[in-house]
Amino acid sequence: MDAVEGRVALVTGGGRGIGRAIALALARAGAHVAVAARSVPEIEAVAAEVARLGRRTLFLPLDVSDRAAVARAPGLVAEELGPVDILVNNAGTHASMPVHKMDDATWDAILAVDLTGPMLLTRACLPAMYERGFGRIVNVASVAGKIGLKHGSAYSAAKHGLIGFTRSLALEAAKKGVTVNAICPSWTETQMLDEAVEAIARATGRSEAEARATILRSNPLGRAALPEEVAEAAVFLVRNAAVTGQAIHVDGGEVMS
Ligand SMILES: NC(=O)c1ccc[n+]([C@@H]2O[C@H](COP(=O)([O-])OP(=O)(O)OC[C@H]3O[C@@H](n4cnc5c(N)ncnc54)[C@H](OP(=O)(O)O)[C@@H]3O)[C@@H](O)[C@H]2O)c1
Repeated sequence: MDAVEGRVALVTGGGRGIGRAIALALARAGAHVAVAARSVPEIEAVAAEVARLGRRTLFLPLDVSDRAAVARAPGLVAEELGPVDILVNNAGTHASMPVHKMDDATWDAILAVDLTGPMLLTRACLPAMYERGFGRIVNVASVAGKIGLKHGSAYSAAKHGLIGFTRSLALEAAKKGVTVNAICPSWTETQMLDEAVEAIARATGRSEAEARATILRSNPLGRAALPEEVAEAAVFLVRNAAVTGQAIHVDGGEVMS
């Protein structure tokens, strides 16, 4: 059986941005796709797009920081579409603040969504993948999982952790037909970038255009990645059975390690 065609994918944070692009790219490649996030109109709209591509689909309201809901999610997907073959842990959140002003709630919330959620959902999907001898796990990390991010310590710590989780699980899963990889995008044209630009403009009094230019100055291409460029990497990681334990960059050459 093909690694994508006819498989069942679950994409968290699938309602917009990178997750939406991954959901649609997997559907174009032949997968049936469950689209999960909290904003129901967004996941409903993406599921409708998946359906228009001729694939079976499900929109699954899900907060990945809700342990009980995460534990139930693979079963709900299995009832509608079949067991999850491809899990894309893409849901993520970011907040900008220096460590000496970090409150416990912000730290806990970012770690819960960006690190613990992917572990919980992966753990819930693994038994069925191991049983069937096939699985693909793609974790959307960040270049901030490879380098420090000024005023982004919680996010960077969570993404470093997600890459460590990816590498460790890849070793456990290698002989069971399950590959586990991460993608490290640089700034990407999504709502998350727009929010970061607005926050910098507010904090510094600069215009949004100046704030954007500052953010993108360190990128060799001089631009943000596109969600579709990140999605192509996800489809590649699903297709290729020999690539596991990797954290590949889609970052215009911003980080080379
Ligand atoms: N954009 C960038 O520059 C960039 C760069 C590197 C890495 N990334 C990573 O790429 C991933 C996607 O981000 P994006 O840029 O596409 O951001 P986005 O446009 O803000 O989308 C984030 C997605 O995650 C979902 N989400 C957030 N919190 C959630 C929760 N608790 N439970 C379930 N879903 C949740 C959001 O939906 P709801 O709010 O409706 O739940 C949304 O669908 C994230 O992991 C992010 O860290 C982004």
